[in-house]
Amino acid sequence: MALAAALLGALLLSAAPAPGVPAASSFPIGDRIYPMLGQAGLDVRHYDLDLTVARPGTLELRGEVTLTLAATRPLAAVALDYLGPAVQEVRWNGAAQAFTLDRAAGKLRVVPPAPLRPSETARLSVRYAGLAVQTPDLSLLTGWQAVPGAGGVGGANYSLSEPVGTRGFMPVNDHPSDPATFTVRITVPAGYTAAASGLETGVVSGPAGHTFTFEQAVPIPAYALAIHINRFVRVDSAPVPVGVGGAAVVRRDYFPAGLPPRVAESVRAPYRRTGEMLEVLAGWFGPFPFAAHGSAIVESPVPALETATLNTMPVRSSSERVLVHETAHQWFGDRVVLADWSDVWLSEGFATYAELLWAQAQGQDGGEVAAGWYARLQGRPTRPLAATSAEELFDQTAYLRGALALHALRTEVGDVAFRGWLRSYVAVFSGQPASTAGLLALTRRELGVRAEATLRLWAESLTLPPLSAPPS
Ligand code: TRP
Ligand code: ZN
Repeated sequence: MALAAALLGALLLSAAPAPGVPAASSFPIGDRIYPMLGQAGLDVRHYDLDLTVARPGTLELRGEVTLTLAATRPLAAVALDYLGPAVQEVRWNGAAQAFTLDRAAGKLRVVPPAPLRPSETARLSVRYAGLAVQTPDLSLLTGWQAVPGAGGVGGANYSLSEPVGTRGFMPVNDHPSDPATFTVRITVPAGYTAAASGLETGVVSGPAGHTFTFEQAVPIPAYALAIHINRFVRVDSAPVPVGVGGAAVVRRDYFPAGLPPRVAESVRAPYRRTGEMLEVLAGWFGPFPFAAHGSAIVESPVPALETATLNTMPVRSSSERVLVHETAHQWFGDRVVLADWSDVWLSEGFATYAELLWAQAQGQDGGEVAAGWYARLQGRPTRPLAATSAEELFDQTAYLRGALALHALRTEVGDVAFRGWLRSYVAVFSGQPASTAGLLALTRRELGVRAEATLRLWAESLTLPPLSAPPS
C-alpha cells in the first residue's frame, strides 16, 4: 500500500498536474518583491530536518524533512516552496501521500485526505535525494553551497539562503513572516564536523559516519538557518549572561581546520570580541534572543550572512565591523522578522546602525560615522526605504539610509528614549512580522508624533533628508 502510493507519487512527479491537484488550489502570501513565495494561511511550526552529505564539497545530498503544519484558515491543499532534488516519498501524518512537483512554479503540492483546519496540526514528511539547486540572486548563487577541497580532497558545504535560497535544498514555506523552530540532524563522513543553528544536543557514530544534532528552539526564518559541514576546529568560549532573564548564552565558533597558520591566527582576532559585542548590543536592544551565539567561517568570497546563532562569516569579511553587523541581525531579521521583503531595511538599517553603536563603545565619534555614511549617499540616487524590486533589497539605501533614519531619530529624542524605543520594538515584534507601518505606529505611541514624523520623513522622502533636523 505504501509502496503503491510511493509509485503513484513517482509517476505524478513526471506527469502533468495530477487529477485532483489543481494548480490554483493554493495561494502565495503576496510578498511585494516575491509574489510567488509561501502559502497564505499556512503556519509551519517546526522543521525536523535530516540531512546526509556523503561527499562534502559537492552538491549531492539526501534529506528527509518533517514539517509540523498549522493553518490559520482551512487549507484544502498545501503548496511548499521547493526547487530541490528529486522527491522520493511524501507522507501526511505518516501515511503515503500523492504529490506534484511543479518545477516551473517552484512548488511541491499535496492535497491531504481532509483539509487542514485551524484547530489541528499535521505532519508532512518529504524524502528526497540528488543535487541541490541554487537560485541566482544579484551576483550570487544562493542556497546550498559546495566548496570543493584542494586537490579533490575534503570539501565543505553550507547554506547561504537569503532571501529565497532555502527551497533549493529543502521544502519550505519560504517567507520570513512564517518563522519556525528547527531540529537539524546532519550525517557526515568521519573526519568532518557539522554545525547548525541552535544548541548541539548530541553526536553519534554510525556506519555512514557521524550524526550531529542541533535544536533551534526559538523560531527563525528559514533563510536564517545555519548549516555548515567542513573539517572544523571548534572553539568554545565562556558563556555571557545576556540572554532572556539573564540566561547564559553559549558561545562557540567554527574555524576551518585547513587554513594556513598565518591566516588562521589573523582570522580569529575579531571573534575574540564576540562576547563584548553581545554585551554592548544587549545594552541597547535588550536580551539576546537565542540560547547560543558564534560564527562559522567559510573559505569562499561571498558576503557574510546573519544565520541564526551562528553567523556565516567568510575569511575575507572577518572584521569587527562585519561581525557586529551580523550579530545585530540576530535581533533584527532573525528574531524580529520581516512581514514583507520590501521592508528589508528593517533588518539592514538596524544591523548597520549597530556598527555605529559598537564604534562608539570603542571611543569613536558616532556623529562622524553617521557623517561618513551621509557622504557616501550624497549625490547618488536614493529612494524611499520600502524597496520596489529585488535589485533594491540590499542596496545602499537599505543599509545606509536605513541606519541614518535611526540616527536622526536618536539625535532628536536622546539616548535614553532611543534605547527604550529599540527595546520596545524588539519586545513587541519578536517572532512577529515587522513592517515600516508597524514601526511608525510604535514610534508614535512610544515617542510621540514629532518623532514619528522624523522617522516617516526618512522612510518616505524621495530625496535624502538633511542629516540633522533643524533645532525647533
Ligand atoms: N543580510 C546580509 C548582510 O548581513 C546580506 C545578504 C543578502 C546576503 N543576501 C545574501 C549575504 C545572500 C549572503 C548571501 O548584510
Ligand atoms: Zn546585513
